[in-house]
Amino acid sequence: MALLEGRVAVVSGGGGDIGGGIARRFAKEGAAIAVCDVSLEKAEAVAADIRASGGRAIGIAVDVSRPDQCEAAATRTLAEFGKITTLVNASATVSPDGNVEKIALDDWKRALDVNFTGMFLMCKYTLGAIRAAGGGAVVNIASSHGHFGLPGRTAYCSTKAAVMHFTRVLAIDYGPDNIRANTISPGPIDTERSLRRYGSRENSNRVRGVGQVLGRTGTVEEVAAAAAFLASDESSFVTGTDLLVDGGQTSFKGSSLERYSS
Ligand SMILES: NC(=O)c1ccc[n+]([C@@H]2O[C@H](COP(=O)([O-])OP(=O)(O)OC[C@H]3O[C@@H](n4cnc5c(N)ncnc54)[C@H](O)[C@@H]3O)[C@@H](O)[C@H]2O)c1
Repeated sequence: MALLEGRVAVVSGGGGDIGGGIARRFAKEGAAIAVCDVSLEKAEAVAADIRASGGRAIGIAVDVSRPDQCEAAATRTLAEFGKITTLVNASATVSPDGNVEKIALDDWKRALDVNFTGMFLMCKYTLGAIRAAGGGAVVNIASSHGHFGLPGRTAYCSTKAAVMHFTRVLAIDYGPDNIRANTISPGPIDTERSLRRYGSRENSNRVRGVGQVLGRTGTVEEVAAAAAFLASDESSFVTGTDLLVDGGQTSFKGSSLERYSS
């Protein structure tokens, strides 16, 4: 039996690389998917792809910083599929780099609105339905950069750390409703964006994979596999935790990967 048979998942940022990968994997595992993204075009493209593979999916335009749009997405999903059992929050905005003096207040607020408050809003408008369905799972995408800082990435790193703590408290509050909540912290994952930046997977691996414990970057499919685990009954006793899908990036703090060989 497929891992997510009979589930209905709302995936924010579902038009993106990781969100899209999760949506596709969940659909393969039997779930119906509401692919939500600020870009309707991207959401529709992923939903069409899932339908073309025999799955059930709709695309919905949602800016997660807008409470009315988050609420409307939940209402539309319920109208289309009759219930919601699963929420994945994978949307994030590209935060401007810079130290505190350089970041404009509006950019700071936008990063918080999309990366952090957006999760709060998507949870706010779907948890009642998940409870009504008898329980389910929330999977929030954080980042290895929520575990350690990077120069000039104040907004991104701070929002990702906040996502993890938010999710712990969510797990505590909703455990009695049989709703589990966990985060995934991806490390360096090859996506369209990183491929655009580094030119090719080989080059991305050369630049970002070097010094990683596994000597390479990760794939969208590897993050999606972790999300499928956390959304399914395979993780039925796992809540309030963070799953690092970072190839060991966070455990290794050295500068050389010379192996102990005697
Ligand atoms: N790619 C990596 O290496 C990596 C590493 C760690 C964490 N992450 C996290 O994984 C998640 C997905 O990242 P990705 O690499 O797939 O990036 P991506 O840009 O492909 O996906 C992000 C999606 O969010 C959407 N989005 C942006 N603003 C939105 C808004 N206001 N409302 C709704 N949707 C909005 C975008 O349109 C996009 O489709 C993010 O939370 C990111 O921080 C990525």
